[in-house]
Amino acid sequence: SYLSTLVRSKGFELGAAVRTLTQLNEHNYSKIFTSVTPENLLKLEGVLENIDQQKYNFNSADAMVDQALNKGFRVRGHALVFGKASDMFKAPDLDAWLEQFPEHKRASILTDFMLKHIEIMLDHYRGRIHEWDVVNEVLDLFGNGDIEENVFYRYVGPDYIKLALKAARQADPTIKIYINEQFNNYTDKRAESFYQLIKSLVDEGLPLDGIGIQGHSLYNLAPPVTLKAYMQRFEALGLTVEITELEARLRLFNSAKDPYLAQGEYYRDIAQQCLEVAACKGITFWGYNDATSWMDDLYFLFPKPNQPYLLDHNNQVKPAVGLLSELL
Ligand code: XIL
Repeated sequence: SYLSTLVRSKGFELGAAVRTLTQLNEHNYSKIFTSVTPENLLKLEGVLENIDQQKYNFNSADAMVDQALNKGFRVRGHALVFGKASDMFKAPDLDAWLEQFPEHKRASILTDFMLKHIEIMLDHYRGRIHEWDVVNEVLDLFGNGDIEENVFYRYVGPDYIKLALKAARQADPTIKIYINEQFNNYTDKRAESFYQLIKSLVDEGLPLDGIGIQGHSLYNLAPPVTLKAYMQRFEALGLTVEITELEARLRLFNSAKDPYLAQGEYYRDIAQQCLEVAACKGITFWGYNDATSWMDDLYFLFPKPNQPYLLDHNNQVKPAVGLLSELL
């Protein structure tokens, strides 16, 4: 039977980040996946038409979300508060936007903007999206576990994470609130620091239901068993876990005799760890097929071959699909 059928029978989710409606309509999509994460359409840049007027336009995002729901997919919401504003991320530059206001007003302006954004989004997608990455990438990407001093940190303050969580719970008490983070591995100081941050939020009784572990293998492959141990620590806090943006670049398997097979085995091993942890509810790959990848867009950072997905550039299934089916 189809991989998606096996996945559903385990009460699990298998998804892809989707960029275009065309991908969603590919005949293979529903045979493999059960879940959809709009890659960029639910981010600020996907919905905010005019920042000065705080005018939203949900046309593109709604087209994607409703099409996915109509086809029976679960939709994951990504991401409400995301401090990356570099050109690379094509996000509105909130720092530049704030400059037009007197300095003493910027804190309250950005706080209001952030809280309002959470409310507008959760209101709009009430009943349609039940899992949300409310805060995305709180740590310095290449640091030792320090909180990234992004625009929200600098203007709203170090409590921006707590404010965002509370606002999300207030706007829609029924959603599952996630904090989503990227890791280099699951054993270093940075991973430990993320765990401590999450534990402190849980201990304080803040509204938090789960942790998204992004799972981009940018420069190295984290051993799957270390991922399992890491997930278990969050499970012990009473949280759920999803692997939200999985991809292992083909380049990392270059020395294997059959790189596609080695890549598939790596994904199978990751999925196995997830299945062995009851709190782990799903896996999402950060793209649909190898024809388009954000890593190829950023080839100067991530030299090809990337080809990280379950389908090749011709939309043919790669070995990973069979290996995942066998596992399930
Ligand atoms: C990426 C998208 O894939 C790109 O298309 C976009 O230009 C930049 O953002 N971590 C995240 C995702 O949480 O939102 C990022 O997505 C990839 C890294």
